[in-house]
Amino acid sequence: MNIIDGKKVSARVKSEVREEAAVLGQKGISVGLAVVIVGDNPASRVYVNNKKKACAEVGFESYEYALPAETTQDELLALVKKLNDDKKVNGILVQLPLPKHIDENAIINAISPDKDVDAFHPTNVGHIMIGDFSFLPCTPAGVMELIAETGIDVCGKNCVVIGRSNIVGKPMAMLLLHKNGTVTMTHSRTKDLASVTSQADILVAAVGKAGFVTADMIKPGAVVIDVGMNRNAEGKLCGDVDFDGCCEKAGYITPVPGGVGPMTIAMLMRNTLTAAKIQNGCKD
Ligand code: GUN
Repeated sequence: MNIIDGKKVSARVKSEVREEAAVLGQKGISVGLAVVIVGDNPASRVYVNNKKKACAEVGFESYEYALPAETTQDELLALVKKLNDDKKVNGILVQLPLPKHIDENAIINAISPDKDVDAFHPTNVGHIMIGDFSFLPCTPAGVMELIAETGIDVCGKNCVVIGRSNIVGKPMAMLLLHKNGTVTMTHSRTKDLASVTSQADILVAAVGKAGFVTADMIKPGAVVIDVGMNRNAEGKLCGDVDFDGCCEKAGYITPVPGGVGPMTIAMLMRNTLTAAKIQNGCKD
């Protein structure tokens, strides 16, 4: 069993981004990310703080907009429009979930696709589907980096994704497919899930249920990637995979915390750098 160290891989990605940002800085170009949070979801607050911290680490400016939970959809749309027009802001990230009275799709659709560093806008989702994308879907792209770290080539492998969200499951399947994996998407209505997952050379769990993937569901030697970020009864952060039960059987496995989480943020930094380069006409 080998543990894939997301902290190490994310540090490498961030140091590459920092070097490139410094080169832009020498040309008088600064990189800026606007982070918008509405309401006081504690998990969102932690994510937003981590994103701002990462900006500081790589030498980006970050601009936080913390709005009260009662913010109307129109007020949020007005802020997004203002940020779309703000030259200092290269990337816009609106932390999800939004309060129930705000239509998330309406907000995502209002973000300029050139500043959509989450790659959530339908234009960018379409680019990902086609395979000619500039912005990486952050979490799935982070997973691809972790798989690459194992040295295992995705080409021809049986890849199974559990979960079909727009943020993780669907773009994850696309990235694996672009690398010529044989991809199966599974979800809550999949029949006999364990019989599917136990065929997986590469298993990506993005379910949102603590300890959902148990040892009987994995193939011996599989690469097991855990996208889950759950709190157990004691409030401890834990993944979708029963790590202790699976770690001996898996060939490679990611821990939670310290696996996929840090990668998502590193990829967000990479996207923000890409946005700044494109907006300043210096994309190679
Ligand atoms: N909420 C959970 N994950 C994400 C993410 O990757 N981006 C945004 N904007 N919100 C999230």
